[in-house]
Order: sequence, then C-alpha cells, then structure tokens
Amino acid sequence: MVNVIKHPLITHKLTQMRKAETGTKDFRQNLDEIAGLMAYEITRDLPLKPVRVTTPVAPCDTYELAKPIILVPILRAGLGMVNGICTLIPIAKVAHIGLYRDEQTLQPHTYFEKYPKNIKDATVIIVDPMLATGGSAIAAIDMVKKQGAQDIRLANLVAAPEGVQAVEEAHPDVDIYLAALDDHLDAHGYIVPGLGDCGDRIFGTK
Ligand code: URA
Repeated sequence: MVNVIKHPLITHKLTQMRKAETGTKDFRQNLDEIAGLMAYEITRDLPLKPVRVTTPVAPCDTYELAKPIILVPILRAGLGMVNGICTLIPIAKVAHIGLYRDEQTLQPHTYFEKYPKNIKDATVIIVDPMLATGGSAIAAIDMVKKQGAQDIRLANLVAAPEGVQAVEEAHPDVDIYLAALDDHLDAHGYIVPGLGDCGDRIFGTK
C-alpha cells in the first residue's frame, strides 16, 4: 500500500525544501519537522496492550504501545529524518544501514549495518528521504528481513513512480509512506521535479 500523506503543513514545508535557494539550516529544519508530522500517520495503526496504572487519584485501566519501534535510517540522507521522528517517539531504537549508490550502475552497495536486538518483535520503520530507483530501499528491506523483521514500513519524503513500483513488486508486504509522489526519474537517477541531492542539501556538501 502506498500512502501519500496529505497535510497543508507538510505541503508547505516540502515546498520550502524544493526551492533551490533554500539553505542547509532551513532545509534540515523542514525535513525534521515533516518527518515528525509523517510519524503521526506512519504509526496510526500500531497495536496497543492493556495496562493498569495508578494516577495520583485512582487506578486506571489504559493502554500503551505493545511492540518496540525501531527506526532504520539509510545512511546518509536517512539521518535527516531521525530527529523529527524520535522527538515524537523517544522510545524508538535506531538501527543504521549504510548503502552507497554506484554512480554508473545506480546499484546499491552495503558498507555498514547495525541493529538493536529485538528487531523480530518490533515495528521497523526504514527512512530515506528520496525513493528514486528503489534499489536502496529494496536492499534495506532485504537486510532487515534477513534479521527477522516482520512488521516493516518504509517512509520517504519524495518518491518517483519507478521507485514505488519497484518496491511494491519486490516487497508487497511493506507499506510505503510518502510526503509527495513526483513525476519521473531523469537519466541520472534524480527525481523530477524532486529537490536535488538530499544528502548534499542536508549536510551542506557538494
Ligand atoms: N537521491 C537524491 O538525493 N535525490 C534524488 O533526486 C534521487 C536520489
């Protein structure tokens, strides 16, 4: 399932990020804020378990989250979405997957992976701002499945239809959450209209 999260605040903030003249500080801050807003939708159906707590007034039968949450940023641009989501979900553990894209073949290569222990029982949210060819997302999903993950969600800021289709074909069990579905990929693998190289814009590199 692909879920394009529609909210005026997300649209406005993404527009600021798309502008070529937006600098590193504002780009990073808007990404942080959008990631937090997206987290609300991504976690909407999380299971709860009944608990009894004691308020200052009386015992109270209520609920809390039933499963751990693990955030998996794909390095390096995925790091830009971690703070915003962790602000909303401070109990989330953070795994890391390091992939780089071969500029010629556009294929992903793994250079780093590190996971918390409880990935089998957790809701796993893979984050990467740009879903272009889908190669990195598919590789990251393969990797967390190999670790035993069963409940996997993918969160991207902007996607190309080509990337969405590739992920849906490779992993139809993984729900995809987007802030925007753009038009197409160009010959260099950039999303059009997109927002350029997201990693470079987050970290101020070129
Ligand atoms: N990665 C980016 O940072 N931007 C794109 O448009 C595609 C992949």
